[in-house]
Amino acid sequence: MKTTIQVPVRGLVHPRDRKKRTFSGAYRHRIDRVLISSTWIRRRVRELARQLVGDLRLRRSSELELVVVLKGGAVFANALAREICRLGGPPVIFNYITASSYGSRTVSSGTVRIAGQIPFVRNKDILIVEDIADTGLTLARLKEYLLTERRAASVRICALLDKPSRRKRALKNRLALDYVGFRIPDIFVAGYGSDCAEHLRELPFIVAVKRRGVK
Ligand code: PRP
Repeated sequence: MKTTIQVPVRGLVHPRDRKKRTFSGAYRHRIDRVLISSTWIRRRVRELARQLVGDLRLRRSSELELVVVLKGGAVFANALAREICRLGGPPVIFNYITASSYGSRTVSSGTVRIAGQIPFVRNKDILIVEDIADTGLTLARLKEYLLTERRAASVRICALLDKPSRRKRALKNRLALDYVGFRIPDIFVAGYGSDCAEHLRELPFIVAVKRRGVK
C-alpha cells in the first residue's frame, strides 16, 4: 500500500477526466487548472479506506470515531466513511470541530481558533479528518487539544492533501500524518472541500487557483 502519492506541478489528470478540463462562467476567473482529477481522488480515497479498515481490524476496533475538521474536511470525510462502509469496515461515528487559521484570507493568521462541541472523546481512539496540512498549525493544535484538554486515548490524523514544503519549521519532524492522500507542491489549491475565499469547495476535484482569483 502506498504511503502517499506525490503530485507533480503539472498535476495528475486521469485520461478519463481529460474532457472535463475547461471551465466557464464564475469558475473561469478562479481556476487555473485541474491539479488532481476526480478519478484519482476516488481511487485514492478507496485505498485510504482499505488501509484504515485493515488497521482497524488489526487493532480490533469495534468502531471508528472521526473528528472532522470543518469546513474543509467535510467532503473528504463523507467520501472516506462511505468507502469504509462499502468495504465492510466498522461503524463510523462523526464528530465535528471547527478550526480556522485562515478565515477568508489566504495566509495563516498563526492562531488556530477551535469551536464546536466535541462529545465523549475521552478515552477514545480518534481519527482527525482534514482536507490539507499546510503549515501544520491547525492539526498540531487540534491533536494537542484532543489529547490534553479532551483526554482522548489516542489521536491519529488522516489528511487528503499534504504540502510539506509549507510546514512550520518547529513542526517539521513533530507532526506525524498517519494517512495522507496526496503530497502536493507549493501551489494554492481548492476543491473537494477546500476553499478559495469560501468558493470552490463543491468541485469534485482539486484545482490550482489563479492568483488573481484569490481575494
Ligand atoms: C484550512 C484547512 C486546514 C488548515 C490547514 O482551513 O481546511 O484546516 O487551513 O492549514 P495549516 O496547516 O496552515 O494550519 P481554514 O482555516 O481555511 O478553514 P476552512 O476549513 O473553514 O476552510
